[in-house]
Amino acid sequence: MIIDIITVLPELMVSPLSHSILQRAKDKQLLEINLIDLREFGIGRHRQVDDYAFGGGAGMVMMAEPLVNCIESLQKKANYDEIIYFSPDGRKFDQKCANRLSLQGRLLLICGHYKGIDQRVRDHWVTMEISIGDYVLSGGELAAAVLVDAVGRLIPGVLNDSCSALTDSFQDDMLAPPVYTRPEDFRGHKVPDVLLSGHEAKIEEWRYEQSMRITRNKRPDLLRDED
Ligand code: ADE
Repeated sequence: MIIDIITVLPELMVSPLSHSILQRAKDKQLLEINLIDLREFGIGRHRQVDDYAFGGGAGMVMMAEPLVNCIESLQKKANYDEIIYFSPDGRKFDQKCANRLSLQGRLLLICGHYKGIDQRVRDHWVTMEISIGDYVLSGGELAAAVLVDAVGRLIPGVLNDSCSALTDSFQDDMLAPPVYTRPEDFRGHKVPDVLLSGHEAKIEEWRYEQSMRITRNKRPDLLRDED
């Protein structure tokens, strides 16, 4: 998969996308991430990318021209399955959306700043709008990093243990069961006996029951979620 990211802060994005599983995915050439600095498409000597909002009001708006010039220059070299814009009013990002996107070949992510981007870009170039939660970030970069992390680890072949993504929280609308590691007794707090029993079927059953219990207690809405 190739993910191109348009941002005015490429430096902010380097570290979150260069460690752990994402770095491994890049090393295995299963994932390529390209950061495109929108300033290179800025207008005039100052490489301007934002301007005052028509109608007044606080905050600057990212201009259509630099953004569309940037998108179109990328489209000359690539076909995108989705052009995604990050905004608090987008559809809420979840594991189902991550699963679906992980099967795509090439994505273009647009990180907004200030008051957002000119609506005409959203109306005519963007194909999908995503929010990572009901709060306002100062820019789309951290939202983009969240999406790339959640999607990148699901790309077939990225995780060593091919089953491991299947047991994640949310993967089948259930939260993950508790996990323990050595020692068996930590300051008098013991690991549940069943996990030490070596009895695979019993361990599976225990994990399922724990998942159900935790989901019912913490996120009962997941068990009612139909789609
Ligand atoms: N940009 C600003 N806030 C955001 C949010 N909650 N999700 C995605 N992009 C954003």
